[in-house]
Amino acid sequence: MENDPLVRAAVDVRLRAYAPYSRFLVGAAVETVDGRIFAGCNVENAAYPEGTCAEAGAIAAMAAAGGRRIRRVVVCGGLDAPCTPCGGCRQKIREFAAPDTAVIMVSPQGETLLERTLSDLLPDSFGPGSLS
Ligand code: THU
Repeated sequence: MENDPLVRAAVDVRLRAYAPYSRFLVGAAVETVDGRIFAGCNVENAAYPEGTCAEAGAIAAMAAAGGRRIRRVVVCGGLDAPCTPCGGCRQKIREFAAPDTAVIMVSPQGETLLERTLSDLLPDSFGPGSLS
């Protein structure tokens, strides 16, 4: 396990994922520019489309606490292959993160599997500044 509290938060919260349908547990953690950490897990629903992703949960926790700017994101999936954020979550991250923000995918043991910038994952993105 890397000695990084953001990685640990994502690894730990993954174990609290509610994913009885996919059985695919995901944890995510965001770090704000002022150093706070917020974590979220996927929460599925018997009405399948109503489930929410781990990243969405972490962002909601951040916003509820007044956080508005993300410095780093860590995503922890259950396989050896990196769990990259889905398309919708890439856009959700973009709302609060600059294109050069690091998005780090880790294993359940906390090892880095892949590191990208947000603009690698969502090039030529539409963001808050695109409206003005
Ligand atoms: N999932 C996430 O929570 N985050 C991702 O980055 C990819 C997918 C969830 C959604 C669903 O509960 C399960 O993983 C399978 O798609």
